[in-house]
Amino acid sequence: MDIRKATTVDKDAVLALNKNVFGGLDYLPSYYDDFLENPIAMPFIITLDGEIIGYLCAFVVDNGETVVHRAGRISPKFQGKGFYKVLSQHVNEKVRERYNLKTRAMMTGDGNLKTQTDSFRQTNTLILQRDLVKYMVLPSHLKEFSGLLNTLPNKNVSVLEVKAYFDTEAIRKYLFPQDRMIVGLVPYRLLSSNLALLDKKNIVCVSDVKVDDEIVSGLLSIATFYKVSRPGYAYVLELYGTDMNSVRYHLLSHLDFIAKTLDDVVYILFFVDKQCQQEKISDVSAECGLVNWIDSDYKTTLECLFESNL
Ligand SMILES: CC(C)(COP(=O)(O)OP(=O)(O)OC[C@H]1O[C@@H](n2cnc3c(N)ncnc32)[C@H](O)[C@@H]1OP(=O)(O)O)[C@@H](O)C(=O)NCCC(=O)NCCS
Repeated sequence: MDIRKATTVDKDAVLALNKNVFGGLDYLPSYYDDFLENPIAMPFIITLDGEIIGYLCAFVVDNGETVVHRAGRISPKFQGKGFYKVLSQHVNEKVRERYNLKTRAMMTGDGNLKTQTDSFRQTNTLILQRDLVKYMVLPSHLKEFSGLLNTLPNKNVSVLEVKAYFDTEAIRKYLFPQDRMIVGLVPYRLLSSNLALLDKKNIVCVSDVKVDDEIVSGLLSIATFYKVSRPGYAYVLELYGTDMNSVRYHLLSHLDFIAKTLDDVVYILFFVDKQCQQEKISDVSAECGLVNWIDSDYKTTLECLFESNL
């Protein structure tokens, strides 16, 4: 058994390891090359007798104190034999050579039964859980209501403007009650240094958050998108805040972006606070003719952030 840095040459073998990761919405095919070049990413593979049997990418955030384990996978015939554990531990040691690590973080869904076990819960703490609402957007739907989209005021903000939300206590508590912001399935602590790490090309950020007489209202929505192995795109949309008065505006803004930019089927993975009134999302989606997407290959209904001390 050997563990080494992943390379361009390994790409096909790594992507062939597991069929149907996240029901065909796997982000690794889109991000594999980026992970090789991104200074905060450290991708590794594990081999057995020269054959690649697993992959894991470490993503270092929070001023070098947190390693996020991303896109981890082991070939089905080698699963359950401890190879992932060995790979994870080795990767943490390699990252520790360069950073003063304190925490390991991982995002997962409710379909991952390992995370329900006592041994997993003994070492990992559930930091937050958000609901996942899934919609499918067909390009023809968007054309039907493009007139509606053209009337929208523009409230797109630069993701760097989110820094002001980190710095204002009332807003921070309202938007990020667990002190974490998740963007593109990566968890970040509320540090301005993290904003510089976000991939600006693929981010759509909309906000109408305001404070009146110390009452915070409005919503912040941040989306990233990538091509998936099913025909089409995944559009990972995180909604922060619970005042749903402007949810229609947010959803329409993102649909406007989708209509102008993406030319195929789009699977919206809409992550929302458990406390928010989700029926308001259903109302706007129905108005826009979005299809509620239920899929036997991707049953996940929650996103979960687990952390463990290193
Ligand atoms: C997730 C996966 C890599 C685990 O591989 P495995 O061969 O079963 O792993 P191991 O036998 O080494 O056991 C996993 C160990 O790592 C821990 N672990 C850490 N992160 C984990 C994760 N994301 N999923 C499952 N176990 C995880 C487990 O708690 C377990 O430790 P324990 O034995 O002390 O309980 C494998 O099931 C897989 O490839 N799944 C398909 C790809 C996928 O969906 N990846 C998404 C990960 S969020």
